[in-house]
Amino acid sequence: MKISRIGVITSGGDAPGMNAAIRAVVRTGIENGWETVGFVGGYRGLTHGELHPLKRRDVGGIINRAGTVLRSSRFPEFQEDETQERALATLEREQIDALVVIGGNGSQMASYAIARRGFPVVGVASTIDNDLHGSETTIGFDTALNIALESIDRLRATASSHRRGMVVEVMGRDTGHLALMAGIAGGAESVLIPERETEIEAVAQDIRSAYERGKPHALIVVAEGANYNAGKLVRHFRQHEKKLGFKLRTTVLGHVQRGGEPTYFDRMLGTRLGAAATDALARGEHGVLIGISGCDEPAVTPLEEVAGRKKELDTGLLRLAGVLAK
Ligand code: F6P
Repeated sequence: MKISRIGVITSGGDAPGMNAAIRAVVRTGIENGWETVGFVGGYRGLTHGELHPLKRRDVGGIINRAGTVLRSSRFPEFQEDETQERALATLEREQIDALVVIGGNGSQMASYAIARRGFPVVGVASTIDNDLHGSETTIGFDTALNIALESIDRLRATASSHRRGMVVEVMGRDTGHLALMAGIAGGAESVLIPERETEIEAVAQDIRSAYERGKPHALIVVAEGANYNAGKLVRHFRQHEKKLGFKLRTTVLGHVQRGGEPTYFDRMLGTRLGAAATDALARGEHGVLIGISGCDEPAVTPLEEVAGRKKELDTGLLRLAGVLAK
């Protein structure tokens, strides 16, 4: 496959670390001798031909920035054949040889639609929801999780001062990755997720037993898509607060979780996945999602092997550091 010009978009919900991925796509692409153009506002910009060239300096000073400099959109119209044909016409008119799509589930469905029409496309796994098949973790999840945790820690402090129950709603319309991990790492008494039907009596029992064990607070972390979201849960318990022991207060974190500056982890993940996307294209590989594997499983190693040995540094990354620094 001969490539001279590639396109890049960020699509769906923005995620911290998307900018690191854009930067890596552009700068590693230049290293391959390619030009890059960025379509503005995801699939909408691709369809309407709204684009601008991205040179080295255009992606300077963005690695630490929240959101996406290319902007993004929800664009359900892309499911229609006519819209997809318009997007392909844009790609042909602009002489784009391949497209990199940085986004989550909906965005990669659209990538697949383009791939099926025979256009070379590579997806980069990015969503704060972390619910994309093919990647152990996704760009933005770590930052969103840390923002949720910081809020949970603050809420615990005020809850303990008043001996209250705090219901915290985190994002996740269809999935409970954020809620479950924030719940575990935040020390929640109860976690409600869309993947599991809420048994309201069991939640009441979790709160009640925290009270009876003398805890100064109860934390209930709820995903927005759980069948009892924060509002519904508190409405349900309004008449039963005496039964719970704790009086309840609610906080809905909402989009605050999405708008943070990327953590080290998300900058690095965005960088590595962006670079891996252009590597895949250079190898002639497309119609694939670039994700990360194996960073979550505990490993068991005999001490005999560990003693006196040092973990090697991946010095191959020095080369990438050099390419990206130009
Ligand atoms: O992108 C993921 C996400 O933040 C979900 O957690 C949330 O349900 C949804 O997007 C909100 O979408 P929007 O910003 O379009 O309201």
